[in-house]
Amino acid sequence: MCGIVGYVGSRQVAPVLLDGLSKLEYRGYDSAGIAVYGDGKINVAKARGRLKVLSEMTDEGKSVSGVMGIGHTRWATHGEPSDVNSHPHVSSSGRFAVVHNGIIENYIPLKKRLMNKGYEFVSETDTEIIAQLIEYYYKGDLLEALIKVIERVEGSYALGVLCSDYPDRFVAVRKASPLIVGVGEGENFIASDVTAILKYTRNVYYLEDNEIVVLSKDSVDVYNTDKEIVNKEIFKVDWDVSAAEKGGYEHFMMKEIEEQPKAIRDTVSARIKDGKIVLDDISLDEKYIKGINKIFIVACGSAYHVGVVAKYVIEKMCRIPVEAQIASEFRYCDPIVSCNDLVIVISQSGETADTLAALKEAKARGARVLSIVNVVGSAIANASDDVLYTWAGPEIAVATTKAYSTQLAVVYLLAVYMAEKLGLLTVGEYAEMVREIQELPDKVAEILKSKEKIQYLASQFYNCHSIFFIGRNLDYAVSLEGSLKLKEISYIHSEAYAAGELKHGTISLIEEGTLVVALVTGNNLFDKTVSNIKEVKARGAVVMAVRTDTHLHDDDIADHVITIPSTNEMFLPSLSVIPLQLFGYYVASLKGLDIDKPRNLAKSVTVE
Ligand code: AGP
Repeated sequence: MCGIVGYVGSRQVAPVLLDGLSKLEYRGYDSAGIAVYGDGKINVAKARGRLKVLSEMTDEGKSVSGVMGIGHTRWATHGEPSDVNSHPHVSSSGRFAVVHNGIIENYIPLKKRLMNKGYEFVSETDTEIIAQLIEYYYKGDLLEALIKVIERVEGSYALGVLCSDYPDRFVAVRKASPLIVGVGEGENFIASDVTAILKYTRNVYYLEDNEIVVLSKDSVDVYNTDKEIVNKEIFKVDWDVSAAEKGGYEHFMMKEIEEQPKAIRDTVSARIKDGKIVLDDISLDEKYIKGINKIFIVACGSAYHVGVVAKYVIEKMCRIPVEAQIASEFRYCDPIVSCNDLVIVISQSGETADTLAALKEAKARGARVLSIVNVVGSAIANASDDVLYTWAGPEIAVATTKAYSTQLAVVYLLAVYMAEKLGLLTVGEYAEMVREIQELPDKVAEILKSKEKIQYLASQFYNCHSIFFIGRNLDYAVSLEGSLKLKEISYIHSEAYAAGELKHGTISLIEEGTLVVALVTGNNLFDKTVSNIKEVKARGAVVMAVRTDTHLHDDDIADHVITIPSTNEMFLPSLSVIPLQLFGYYVASLKGLDIDKPRNLAKSVTVE
């Protein structure tokens, strides 16, 4: 949600800003704008719609001269998507221009106060108050004015600020919204994430909340709110530029689906040494694990679905009670969490507002927080006691695939690691599980080889109006993800149901020709789910089943059968989800939809 880019250096800035914003398009937006310092003043160009509109308006940036500027893609929250509500917002005098990602919660009283003092506002946004407040507090020192502003606003923000009194520098600050600083040679950058600046530099600073950065062509100075210099360590990003490019694929989503074997291998192999799981990036020792009272897993969307898998896996292996909760519910349910509980927070972006708030809620109650995060230095990673990074690389498509798969891999490592410390696995069982985890990338690659079959099935069903996904236990957990994958990119109504729950109401929705995708990968519950398949078939459903190669003789259970390799039952979600990702992808593709940027959705949900 919302993307920010800022630059100061020797290049013409507008094309650099447009290029950077194009790399942030995946975050979701409905308008875009830039502000550039040139000829002693700030020039703004902004427009509702895709970046293409702004690019055409400025002749791909060539018509705007200047070597310092800020740019923004806006995902509307306060006020409709419109030219006037687009960022940058400019103060009444035109001296300050501001781009903002986040929400200023107390903007209404602040706005009223300034209006009483004669300030005029032109937009409906919460952001405009920042530009006006800076102007109100400015007495010749931009840093001083910005500090006064952030002391008075409540909410979340990543801000880039230009001031026409400062021809060679601009400032930025963040709190609970992402913003990184890119350090180049003779040029410096800010951006919502590294993909926007990777082409120019790999050296970045991750800012803590309320650290303010002043950037000029040759310097980057970070201050705290007492105006003291903060010494920061440069982090070197080791992603390839190609990691954030489509590389010949039509969509990022398919590229990321195909990258899953590598992503899982990268995540797992760094943590298995001589057949042992080594989690030396965290400090959960045997004593601590033995004292855990309960585990909560808190996340949103697909990351929550990983949490549902984790509940089954950790409870089964470690015999510790686990509760998976949606972050937006957890944060407001007055959760019964205490210092003997471990809260596991899962997030690809590391910046999901509800997940971050839930994390803070858990910490405030004394719980220890372990996060599973993909983005290094993100707000959730910074706020956690321990972090297990998923090494998925940049994930650009809104619909997550490789991040989900690497999160599952981390869950397995953690579960086996804890079970071993708890003395619940024999040496043989442990070794076998470690081996099975290591084999997952090859098994995923094997499933990806039979994409054409799924593509064919998608061609048979892409006109459906409603699709059901059913399964039991882990198969149910994966059904949740399969259903979400389909609906978010294909806009087909879909529901995931625990197979045994169907006849308590939902089965009345099954009619002649309704597609039911049934996951029957678990051995123990195979016959139970097959009974449920028979029930829906008897009512006219067409069934597409996903089962393992241990049930090769069971081809008559459904109208269409997709086979996946076998593995330890606990790890099957990593395999059974792959055909469902592909099915969602191909259905959306056949419908000609914007797969990487589905309507109304944003990649990083930084507002609640
Ligand atoms: C899944 O395809 C979605 N993009 C969404 O459900 C996502 O998983 C959710 O918003 C959580 O995001 P996070 O992992 O960045 O916290």
